[in-house]
Parts: sequence; structure tokens; C-alpha cells
Amino acid sequence: MRKKLMVANWKMYKTPDQTRDFFRAFLPLIADHTRDEIAVCPSFVCLAAAVEAAKGSHVAIGGQNLHWEKEGAYTGEISAGMLLAAGCTHVIIGHSERRQYFGETDDTVNRKLKTALEAGLTPIVCVGEVLEEREAGLTEDVLRRQCLRAFHAISGKKAGKLVIAYEPVWAIGTGKTATPRLAAEAHVLIRGDKMAESLRILYGGSVKPENAKSLMSEEEIDGALVGGSSLNATSFAAIIKY
Ligand code: 13P
Repeated sequence: MRKKLMVANWKMYKTPDQTRDFFRAFLPLIADHTRDEIAVCPSFVCLAAAVEAAKGSHVAIGGQNLHWEKEGAYTGEISAGMLLAAGCTHVIIGHSERRQYFGETDDTVNRKLKTALEAGLTPIVCVGEVLEEREAGLTEDVLRRQCLRAFHAISGKKAGKLVIAYEPVWAIGTGKTATPRLAAEAHVLIRGDKMAESLRILYGGSVKPENAKSLMSEEEIDGALVGGSSLNATSFAAIIKY
């Protein structure tokens, strides 16, 4: 049995004060919930507040991105070492919004993944097809390509803690969720025959308290990557406790 991982991706929402308010409300709601692993990924400027607020709890903190170099003249970027120093244990890589708006490619995802694994962070690598690709019957090709390139030259042994998040782009922030069956089918595809049995594959895309139970009941779905519904302590806790 793979332990589920429930992750909040706050995207570009919340200030440090709002982060502290969230944790004040959230931690009592999940204090006795040890069934799953929980991680919250705030913006970089809220990491310190989140780490401080989550201290002593079983909630891990992660970044939403990182650069593949250790340091250098890369204005606006952040390194694995900086994330670790801030108290992060997880990092999201290759989110579709970064691919769509910030030029992230399968190649940069691959470089970032290598760096994150070397640093000992738990990478959460996002893959997923856009609507046109699904409608054209290309989902399988797209997922295969994204995984092959993202994991290029990374051995199974090195992949250790790696987590994949399947986020169909047409389901992100649209209120349209993949049906549990459709998501599970994509997860089987991603797992393929080479991926380890222990590899965790999360589902992301309009996960809400109302659909969490049916999605999380699928054996192939090993957790959730939650955007909008993770911003509110009550609704993220309800998803976790589905
Ligand atoms: P929503 O839950 O807002 O659809 O966002 C999903 C997502 O992109 C999480 O990374």
C-alpha cells in the first residue's frame, strides 16, 4: 500500500500574514490525521512563515519551482540549497502553468528533477495533456513523451522519493474534474511497466471536498495536488479527510 500524499499548491496567492492565519486554522483540523502525508507549497516569500507555523506538526513545506544550478547570475530564480535552507522538503516541478507561461520544457523539467533529487528534496513532477491533445486522442503520446523526457538519464535507484502529479490541463481551475476512472487510466499509463510499484502518482485538477472521496478511492490515485480548494483551511482539511 502506498501512503497517500495530499499537497496544497497555493500558486500566486497569500501573504505571510495570510499564511500564518491559514496554519492557525488548519493545524487543529488535521492534528490527529496521520493516515496520509500532507504538504503545503506556498510562494517563496511565504516559505519562512509556513515553516515556522508548521513546526512540530506533520505538515511538510515545499517550493513551487527551483533552478537547476546551485547558484549564479539568474535573477529571480531560487536554488535547491535555498529551499532546503528555508526548511522545505518538497518541490513542485514542471507545473503546466510554468510550461504554459514561463517557457518550462521537458528538458528544463529533467534538469530540475536531477538537481532536486541530488539535493534530497522530494520532487513532485507534473505532467498532463491539454484539451486539444485529449480530443485528438493524443493523451497517451503526450504523457509518454513528458515522462520519458522528464526522467531521461535518471535511474530507478536515484528516483527514490520522486512523486508524479497527473494534472490534465483542461481540469485545472476550470471546475471540470477528470472522472475517477479517466484519471486512474492515465495513472496506469504513466506508471507503465518500468515504473516502480512504490511510485506515487497524484491527481490534480479541480479537486474539491465534494469529489475527493471518489477520486481518492481509486487504487491507482496516490494523493492529490490541490490548487484553489487548498487556499481555505476548512476545505483543504475536508479534502484530506475525505
Ligand atoms: P485547481 O485545484 O485550482 O484546479 O488547480 C490544480 C492545480 O494546478 C494544482 O497544482
